[in-house]
Amino acid sequence: MTASMTPALTALFEAARAAQERAYVPYSKFRVGAAVRSASGAIHAGCNVENAAYPVGNCAEASAIAAMIMAGETTIIEALVVGDGTGLCTPCGGCRQRLREFAALTTPVHVADRGGIRRSFTVDELLPASFGPDNLAS
Ligand code: THU
Repeated sequence: MTASMTPALTALFEAARAAQERAYVPYSKFRVGAAVRSASGAIHAGCNVENAAYPVGNCAEASAIAAMIMAGETTIIEALVVGDGTGLCTPCGGCRQRLREFAALTTPVHVADRGGIRRSFTVDELLPASFGPDNLAS
């Protein structure tokens, strides 16, 4: 784990790692865990859930956001995604938009592997010039 991580960030990482272990990935074998910390300070985690009908599979971020919504919360303060591989496990395009819905443009999104955080982005860096709830205001 990254040496300089605060206790709050360590908890987010550990929740995402535990979720990664639960991933249902018989097709890709690519385990992803995600965790979001919401406004109350609670952590909500999720894993990717694949399906024999491939496009129906869920990303880990979508699962974590669903858990947050089920807990009655709608604001993401910090997010973390953990995946294996040499490349960064950055959120896919759809999940960038999903995070955008519930986060501020400045909200940090950390990308990790089993060893810890590899790189951190803001939502705005991941999805520049994005369309969000405010854009619907007339
Ligand atoms: N995946 C995620 O869960 N989150 C991401 O941000 C990237 C990709 C999943 C989808 C699929 O189950 C597997 O990783 C391979 O693409």
